[in-house]
Amino acid sequence: MTVIGTGYLGAVHAACMAEIGHEVLGVDVDELKIAALAEGRPPFFEPGLADLLARTHAGGRLRFSTSLREAAEFGEVHFVCVGTPQRSGSFAADLSHIDAVVDGLGPHLSEPCLVVGKSTVPVGTAARLAGRVADLAPAGDAAELAWNPEFLREGTAVRDTLEPDRLVVGTGSARADAMLREVYAPMIEAGTPYLVTDLATAELVKVAANSFLATKISYVNAMAEICEATGADVTRLAEAIGLDDRIGSRFLSAGLGFGGGCLPKDIRAFLARGEELGVERSLRFLREVDEINMRCRQRTVDAARDLVGGSFLGKRIAVLGAAFKPDSDDIRDSPALNVAAVIKLQGAHITVHDEEAVDNARAAFPHLDYALEPAKACEGADAVLHLTEWRQYRELDPARLAAVTRTPRLLDARNALDLPHWRNAGWTVRALGRPAA
Ligand code: UGA
Repeated sequence: MTVIGTGYLGAVHAACMAEIGHEVLGVDVDELKIAALAEGRPPFFEPGLADLLARTHAGGRLRFSTSLREAAEFGEVHFVCVGTPQRSGSFAADLSHIDAVVDGLGPHLSEPCLVVGKSTVPVGTAARLAGRVADLAPAGDAAELAWNPEFLREGTAVRDTLEPDRLVVGTGSARADAMLREVYAPMIEAGTPYLVTDLATAELVKVAANSFLATKISYVNAMAEICEATGADVTRLAEAIGLDDRIGSRFLSAGLGFGGGCLPKDIRAFLARGEELGVERSLRFLREVDEINMRCRQRTVDAARDLVGGSFLGKRIAVLGAAFKPDSDDIRDSPALNVAAVIKLQGAHITVHDEEAVDNARAAFPHLDYALEPAKACEGADAVLHLTEWRQYRELDPARLAAVTRTPRLLDARNALDLPHWRNAGWTVRALGRPAA
């Protein structure tokens, strides 16, 4: 099989498919990325990926190329894993990468084969691409298209791919269904639910799931706003409502809200598609979900400003965390860096620490300063902002850290630190959605 697009989704998918015994060719237009992968080196940080690449590389089941023609000649199944980012100047998704793959691959598809979309796309895209594949493939009905959305999370992508909660396949073809059951045989044998749907339902399952997750996060962050107005504590509230197993406690962590390459752009692309389809009323609530989420960033900036006495001018601020979530080096639409950049504009001097994302952050935000140790970032700080909840930050010694700051003040914007422990070590502590003391 081939896996086209070797970003956070495709590289993991390629390595996991090789791990379960398939012969895999990974393809990307980015020559540097392909060169790294060809040497068995992951081009980004994802826990477990380096070991998996080394193993599958050594086993000879995983190769890489930049040629779509080679891909067409090599594969019986072609997984398309390229990005569908937010289009500039619009909420809609930019489908240029996925269109380019189908246009580049299609004319070379001679043997009977299956093109399988995994990228997140606006509903209706798969049907359009299925027509395009049929038009382009020289041997008429040789090539078919199915849709198989991906639900992996960055940070746990390897496990999510090898042990998925469910497999969803959009196809009307018995042949495509049989091929994908063969591809995923180890997961199906292990009991993973395997659902076959039409193309549109498969596309929608993905955006509906991400919209639900985004809504759950914004719901608890709206509750955090109410808690702030009433002196209540959102962490206890979330704990209590989460014990109702109809609600569940996962994805109820209040704080700085969601970022990354998926949830923010997916809800916006869904809104844009809803308008095109004339069903914008059904999705209007997602505007509110987006607004609540963006307000989290503003509330964090405001809380930090209050903490340092009402103005950032001339203040030194330490920022712990740059990635959009822990266990990732991905900084796409990172709430942490967004907050850091806004505070910088308001006259503060910012030093950012992150466990893995400093290189990416420095490339995108060169005007911020960076430190390789949390304590270095906190040297002389007027306040420390905890913006991405890396496990390592929970293990910091607040007493030792207090000694290097100018004034030991902490804003926990992820509600992940042991606040009494920090207070006992002399810190003035604030957290989003929780009372001041
Ligand atoms: C998300 C979905 O969870 C995956 O199922 C999906 O496959 C993926 O998008 C995708 O479309 O490719 P991901 O973006 O990797 O995965 O990360 P999440 O774990 O969903 O976290 C997203 C954001 O929500 C992060 O910024 C995180 O800090 C934030 N978050 C998460 C909260 O603010 N509160 C929570 O309770 C949970």
